[in-house]
Amino acid sequence: MRAFTFPGTSLTVDRMGYGAMQLAGRGVFGPPRDRGECIAVLREAVAAGVNHIDTSDIYGPHLTNQIIREALHPYPDDLVIATKVGVRRGSDGSWNPACSRQDIEGAVQDNLRNLGLDRLHVVNLRIRSDSENYSIEEPFTALAELQQQGLIQSLGISSATPAQVSEAQQIASVVCVQNLYNVAHREDDALIDELAHQGIAYVPFFPLGGFNPLQFSALDEIAASVHATPMQTALAWLLHRAPNVLLIPGTSTREHLRENLQAAVLQLPPDAHAKLDVLSAAEAWSPPHR
Ligand SMILES: NC(=O)c1ccc[n+]([C@@H]2O[C@H](COP(=O)([O-])OP(=O)(O)OC[C@H]3O[C@@H](n4cnc5c(N)ncnc54)[C@H](OP(=O)(O)O)[C@@H]3O)[C@@H](O)[C@H]2O)c1
Repeated sequence: MRAFTFPGTSLTVDRMGYGAMQLAGRGVFGPPRDRGECIAVLREAVAAGVNHIDTSDIYGPHLTNQIIREALHPYPDDLVIATKVGVRRGSDGSWNPACSRQDIEGAVQDNLRNLGLDRLHVVNLRIRSDSENYSIEEPFTALAELQQQGLIQSLGISSATPAQVSEAQQIASVVCVQNLYNVAHREDDALIDELAHQGIAYVPFFPLGGFNPLQFSALDEIAASVHATPMQTALAWLLHRAPNVLLIPGTSTREHLRENLQAAVLQLPPDAHAKLDVLSAAEAWSPPHR
């Protein structure tokens, strides 16, 4: 099943989407090396059927949203752009919590302006706190109020514990959860199953390993056995992990985009699934941070 409808909404997306974080410069800070290629990536993604793009005004900052607007505005009717608030970039590129009511309101306005939208489709509260017990009441209530004012269609939460997801649900409907998850990092297995039960989307970030792209021999071997690349194999496994999993692999090149989109039609045989199911982070080799 390729289509997914965010619960309680009319927003239906293809489960193979695109993550725009790679469209900023090194360290997700400053302009990209090749703006023309970024625009081409976005246009080709949409032409190929991608209708779910994940972004944030903190990428660049501002620049990634401006590139999305330049490439795709006026947006196709079925395009769902999901963004994130709750973080502010320092002048040194640092990522800092920004969860006061004022921060949230400002971030929503930034996203509206830079994306050229009157209403944001999906806004995730990106939690950035060292404390697992951090209460999301203030920022999520601020988002719920902006939703009631008509500035936001649907709400989600990112980098959240199950307790924080539940806390958010006491305040407003949650249509998606965006956490770190991939074939080697499976800490959210129980949460995915619970959200699937509730019909809520689970959107794994770093589906290809993020700053440390997935690279381990067991994945290479399984990929070779199904005549696919390791990245395609990792994405196909995610797509089959649960029906509520929506993919947003990131890339700055059309070559990688084409490769990644092909994962949506890759059928993994049961034995490949079984081998991937038992892979773990311990087997992965992580190249140094770029
Ligand atoms: N909620 C959050 O806190 C959070 C955090 C991080 C990311 N995100 C979202 O999640 C999306 C996905 O995460 P991500 O982009 O950081 O990581 P990712 O999708 O796991 O991996 C992207 C990295 O893999 C490379 N890559 C992509 N396709 C490839 C291919 N076929 N072969 C080899 N390398 C390939 C990219 O480089 P190239 O550009 O060279 O292809 C880039 O270095 C982001 O775009 C963003 O929207 C959210």
